[in-house]
Amino acid sequence: MEPTTTSDPAPAHAGDQSREQWSSKIGFVLAAAGSAIGLGNIWRFPYVTGENGGAAFVIVYLACIAFICLPYLLAELALGRRSQKNPVGAIKAVTGRTPWMLVGGLGILTGLFILSYYGVIAGWTFGYIFKNVVSPDTAFADFIATPGLVLPLFALFLGSTAAIVQGGVEDGIERAAKVLMPILLVLMLLVIVRGVTLEGASAGLSFYLNPDFSKIGSGAIVAALGQAFFSLSLGMGAMVTYGSYLPEKENLLSAGGYVALFDTGIALLAGLMIFPAVFALDGNPQAGPTLVFDVLPGLFQQMPLGTSVGMLFFLLLSVAALTSTVSLMEVVVSYCMDERHWSRSKSVAVVTGGAFAFGFPAALSQGISPTLTDMTWLVGESGVLGATDFLGIMDTIWGNISLALGALLLCVFAGWVWGVADAAAEIRSGAGAFAPGAAQVWGMFIKYVCPLVILVVLLDAFQVI
Ligand code: PHE
Repeated sequence: MEPTTTSDPAPAHAGDQSREQWSSKIGFVLAAAGSAIGLGNIWRFPYVTGENGGAAFVIVYLACIAFICLPYLLAELALGRRSQKNPVGAIKAVTGRTPWMLVGGLGILTGLFILSYYGVIAGWTFGYIFKNVVSPDTAFADFIATPGLVLPLFALFLGSTAAIVQGGVEDGIERAAKVLMPILLVLMLLVIVRGVTLEGASAGLSFYLNPDFSKIGSGAIVAALGQAFFSLSLGMGAMVTYGSYLPEKENLLSAGGYVALFDTGIALLAGLMIFPAVFALDGNPQAGPTLVFDVLPGLFQQMPLGTSVGMLFFLLLSVAALTSTVSLMEVVVSYCMDERHWSRSKSVAVVTGGAFAFGFPAALSQGISPTLTDMTWLVGESGVLGATDFLGIMDTIWGNISLALGALLLCVFAGWVWGVADAAAEIRSGAGAFAPGAAQVWGMFIKYVCPLVILVVLLDAFQVI
């Protein structure tokens, strides 16, 4: 969502006196948490955890959040606030016109591609609000293989995102998110209580909570790192863009900390919601992307007022997805407006058209078009890190690899080109607790630890080393 314009905006560094700003810190935290919390937490985290062995994967994921994503999140926020620009403009603002601007460009492209297939899944979520009333017996696999359902739902979702981004400053969604996100949390807690008290749930709890590290290979590590970036909306400049609307007096440390805390908390709760139920209801934890859609309706059936609970749940999940698609679109739109000097309407129209064009094959790749559903003719039997359908391949390339690569390049940029001293000074403004000692440790992470770890994980995943 876009920030509201305050009557007394703090002076911007980059000479742009009229740039919009968040009305309050809480406004920023909610908007950034709205971007971070979405299908990534509730749909993607449980199935990626299930595919990669459960508890041990969760530990690797948490380590990625704490040691890689959190320091890196600060770098994105600092770059955004310093430059008051979109990712491409931000890089240009701090170092002038250099090839590093391409890193921002990669982020913009990544945002567009993630938006395209994410919109398809968000469309399914939207459809599930009504599905269990209209046609409870339709299996998920049949639902997503029905063009008459998935295409209009996808278009509807993308259209709603466009309408919100077009509105620019949007009180509506910000206010709605403020009310609806806490309700989502309460509802998740209720569903968890029902799930863990089902007979047979304890096997799921142990799958989710008792680590078996023999299950962790290079595939699991790149999946964990990619999931951590995806979930926090990192690696493609969303947090640069959102940080660009933050005033100087705000504390980036605590704002970033809250966003990471909320996002991780919701993901962990989503796992607690799914795994006990999967085992109790005889599901398969390795079912992949269909996991949440298959398991949850079964769980709702075991609850009093299950149909209503299910409707409400998928409604809230749709809202969570909407605050994420809005941020994805906003990054691309802010680039078109700042750098291409297009109007907001033209930018929104072009980006929506582009997202639809790439989302279309993704929507057809779940059983409708055999060529797109099984792309082994193009990517071979092993696929792209295992993915063989168009949507899965897009998710692996853009939602995982490209985010990690973008983060790697931006770390090198912030650490070595822009310089950690400048970046740390930006963080310190508004954050007294970021003492020189802390800044030095942070600088080591940005210059050495984060880029090296990401590089090794990527090379390992592609069996280069
Ligand atoms: N973080 C969002 C989610 O978890 C997805 C997203 C990724 C949004 C990248 C913006 C940028 O659903």
